[in-house]
Amino acid sequence: MSLTDEQGSVTPSQAAFHEDVELSGHIIDSLLLPKVLDEITSLGGEYQSHEIRIGHNRHDPSYVRLTVSAPTEPCLEIILRTIGQHGAVPVQHHDCRLEPADMNGAFPEGFYATTNEPTEVRLAGHWIGVDRQEMDCGIAVDSATKRARCVAMVDVQRGDLIVVGRLGMRVSPVGRDLDRKHSFGFMNSTVSSEKPKNVTVREIAELMRRAAQGSEKILVVAGPAVIHTGSRELLSWLIRNNFVHVLFAGNALATHDIEQSFFGTSLGISIQHGDTTEEGHEHHLRSINRVRRLGGIRQAVEQGLLTSGIMYECLQHNVPFVLAGSIRDDGPLPDVITDSLVAQTQMRELVQGVTFCLMIATTLHSIAVGNLLPAWVKTVCVDINPATVTKLSDRGSFQTIGLVTDVEPFLRILVQELGGLT
Ligand SMILES: NC(=O)c1ccc[n+]([C@@H]2O[C@H](COP(=O)([O-])OP(=O)(O)OC[C@H]3O[C@@H](n4cnc5c(N)ncnc54)[C@H](O)[C@@H]3O)[C@@H](O)[C@H]2O)c1
Repeated sequence: MSLTDEQGSVTPSQAAFHEDVELSGHIIDSLLLPKVLDEITSLGGEYQSHEIRIGHNRHDPSYVRLTVSAPTEPCLEIILRTIGQHGAVPVQHHDCRLEPADMNGAFPEGFYATTNEPTEVRLAGHWIGVDRQEMDCGIAVDSATKRARCVAMVDVQRGDLIVVGRLGMRVSPVGRDLDRKHSFGFMNSTVSSEKPKNVTVREIAELMRRAAQGSEKILVVAGPAVIHTGSRELLSWLIRNNFVHVLFAGNALATHDIEQSFFGTSLGISIQHGDTTEEGHEHHLRSINRVRRLGGIRQAVEQGLLTSGIMYECLQHNVPFVLAGSIRDDGPLPDVITDSLVAQTQMRELVQGVTFCLMIATTLHSIAVGNLLPAWVKTVCVDINPATVTKLSDRGSFQTIGLVTDVEPFLRILVQELGGLT
């Protein structure tokens, strides 16, 4: 359907400030169009539609052209910046504006703040894709090579050419509408505490199987509940069988994993019998101490002291890991990176090329990793508390599928689906 006149449009008042924008793609199914219209009015503006083309079937893209009006220039700027994040681009194309960074570690005022959605910048009349897409960064442009990349505030170097303002920017929100039959077709935060989980776990297994067989990259982010619930053999199986290509965790996961290897307990509770052990509360400290005396987890494996578990399997199968420190850590283990900026930098390198991310039983690390991942990385967050998934989506990781369940049955069904535990 095409409406090229002003049928059905809202007539704006005689607002002095206006700009024409266009929006295309799956803007109806994904509810992007109503969202854009709602943003315009709730931010104090008005719109007039000039052209609307609605696709005939679910796979056809749609198109709309609007005039956005506002009572003041700053109000119009805010509206255009906001709807720009949903894919609304000015009809009149401009090149992006660049300003050299005047100091290390900070952007020029007015820098363009990124989202996790695919973004392009317009340079000398050409649209170029932004590399290393990440939310809450700026964009640095190399005019000589015509490349643009997301850059974290802390990594800005004086003289870097930084995009400022919203002109010459184009965001193409990841489609959320293509196949509602599958959890991943409709990328959305589905907190499914009362839905059958086996179907979703089967889909996750299928995705992981395809990723493991091809050249895709699976990231697992895990918390210590994996060990406390007696699930470490399940995660170890996934690592041994090439279903984990990168692991992110903190001191606790590695510590209790090693505690189980050394003492058969997790936080002093026997993994075999579920009862407390004499002086068991000291086991994790004794484990950390033993590894510190050797210099690190690798040394513990090389010297034959650590012979099982998640960290052991990572080292045996060359699965890179980042153990990021936190303020509550005991020890920590020598492998834990206590400078959070250094940990972030290493994580940024390792998330490059990740196509699927499984976050299990950690709020802190799940949200930290959610912030680093582009919106097109399929992400599953498994947690017993729905608030963890909600927090992830509130912070912009809308692509996360949430599974509200105990991590142990989740991992058991996943491993079964992948051919383990027969
Ligand atoms: N002794 C130590 O050094 C020590 C101890 C604990 C945590 N830490 C560190 O503190 C930081 C935060 O720890 P965290 O990530 O565990 O805490 P967190 O609070 O960020 O996340 C724990 C998550 O696990 C979920 N959970 C608990 N039991 C579960 C189950 N059975 N199934 C599914 N989900 C379950 C909770 O709902 C919560 O979301 C990490 O860096 C960790 O390494 C250190």
